[in-house]
Amino acid sequence: MRSKIVAGNWKMNNNSKETKTLVKGIRKSIKKLPLENTRVLVAPTFVNLMSAIKRIKKSKVEVVAQNMHQENNGAFTGEVSADMLKSIGVKSVIIGHSERRSLFGETDEVLALKVTKAINEGLEVIFCFGEQLEDRKSNNHFTVVKNQLEKGLFHIEANAWSQIVLAYEPVWAIGTGETASPEQAQEMHAFIRNLLQEKYHTSVADNTSILYGGSVKPSNAEEIFSKQDVDGGLIGGASLNVKDFTDIIKAI
Ligand code: PGA
Repeated sequence: MRSKIVAGNWKMNNNSKETKTLVKGIRKSIKKLPLENTRVLVAPTFVNLMSAIKRIKKSKVEVVAQNMHQENNGAFTGEVSADMLKSIGVKSVIIGHSERRSLFGETDEVLALKVTKAINEGLEVIFCFGEQLEDRKSNNHFTVVKNQLEKGLFHIEANAWSQIVLAYEPVWAIGTGETASPEQAQEMHAFIRNLLQEKYHTSVADNTSILYGGSVKPSNAEEIFSKQDVDGGLIGGASLNVKDFTDIIKAI
């Protein structure tokens, strides 16, 4: 059975002290929630991963990285490898976030290398993808999403899918306050699950968690999460506030 997941992508927010406070707050506020088959993830910046990991011990919170480099080590100034992440206890990594694609020039080809590396290193990958507004307006959104998955992800073997979580994030909904309607999210998620079935197997389609991301907040989370093929959310802005993030977790 696939898990329900609520993941907070903190992006470039929170210094050391703020990270400690937020982790502590989330840890405390979800302690008594009945989180059966539901995972709670937070993704602090690289410099705060270690301190966050220390603070989630014996709690239901998992700490994930926002990015990684595809090489083992070497002359890649400013980058962090899978091995480095693993060495401090990170088990999952976000790959392909739209901000990495658009602001830092990460191509489908680079993302495919990162996915391979993460899988080979035994990390779980939260793979992000989603169309731009123009794509949706011109009714190209299904083609764009299919291409992103084919180029960045569909090279992996069927047995590696136990290490994959998908996050559909329409770019026009990220940080804009504009959310895809629950119907739009469901339609795309069902399309994606169908692709997994065609390309791989029913078991891959059934067991892969597909998250929705893009302006999820307490007021819209429940309706989006109620859709059959939406298994949770990747939350940006609203994950920086303990109450909002907890309310989103409660919605699931
Ligand atoms: P948002 O960000 O919730 O602030 O729209 C989502 C994301 O970028 O993952």
